[in-house]
Amino acid sequence: MTAPQDTTVKPLRLDGITKHFGGIVAIKRFDLEIEPGEIVALVGDNGAGKSTLVKIISGMYQPTDGEIWVNGERASFRDPSDARTRGVEVVYQDLALVDLQPVYMNLFLGRELRRKPFGTLDRKTMASRTQALVEELDVRIPSARATLSDLSGGQRQGIAIARATHWASSLVLMDEPTAALGVAETAKVEELILKLKARGAAVLIVSHNMEQVFRVADRVTVLRRGTQVGTKRTEETTHNELVAMITGLSS
Ligand SMILES: Nc1ncnc2c1ncn2[C@@H]1O[C@H](COP(=O)(O)OP(=O)(O)OP(=O)(O)O)[C@@H](O)[C@H]1O
Ligand SMILES: [Mg+2]
Repeated sequence: MTAPQDTTVKPLRLDGITKHFGGIVAIKRFDLEIEPGEIVALVGDNGAGKSTLVKIISGMYQPTDGEIWVNGERASFRDPSDARTRGVEVVYQDLALVDLQPVYMNLFLGRELRRKPFGTLDRKTMASRTQALVEELDVRIPSARATLSDLSGGQRQGIAIARATHWASSLVLMDEPTAALGVAETAKVEELILKLKARGAAVLIVSHNMEQVFRVADRVTVLRRGTQVGTKRTEETTHNELVAMITGLSS
């Protein structure tokens, strides 16, 4: 008889992730598992290493040491498009979208649908799929054919999240997705994040906004100058405790 094994496959498991930049240790032995349908917030002061960790998971940087597992398989992504083919999507603060293109082209960026036999863009299908997706997610925009630059910041971030929702098979990383948004736009984006969770995606969200962390996250993990100082369930911690962990000063 073999011993029973833990067969639960985690969308993300990080084992001892370490990153050096020359002599700087940006991340030191970082561990984390995220369950399907779980939102984990990653918090810490400026320069703590949050974006570096997101870039490592998304294939932009290679870790100096440690292992990344996605859906139970060891992952070592060559670059972000390699990560995307494995169902890992990223939403950035600075909106990696193309201003002069219509919404539907942004939705299909790098994965455009083409018609046979000449490979011309299948704009009609891309636009209708985009329209269906934004309606399903209740992202309010004038039309899937609108030019991106005509949308507000909140609508644009809605498109970035809709794109991640559409393509991510299991894991979405977000680096300060609402940092550039106002209160109402932030609320709308948080609704979208909760819809992603309801669909069973695992979400890792970097945020400086403590109220947001408590509104959306199930757990929160704290980085201080590259060291992971702790992970808490949001139900079992407080604003003051997190601030103390972030700063290293007792509350
Ligand atoms: N490409 C790089 N080369 C050298 N050092 C880097 C590089 N990227 C990040 N660092 C360093 O790694 C550390 C962590 O930076 P990172 O951008 O991950 O911080 P952060 O937690 O995202 O901060 P912020 O809240 O300001 O966005 C910093 O000391 C930074 O200067
Ligand atoms: Mg950052």
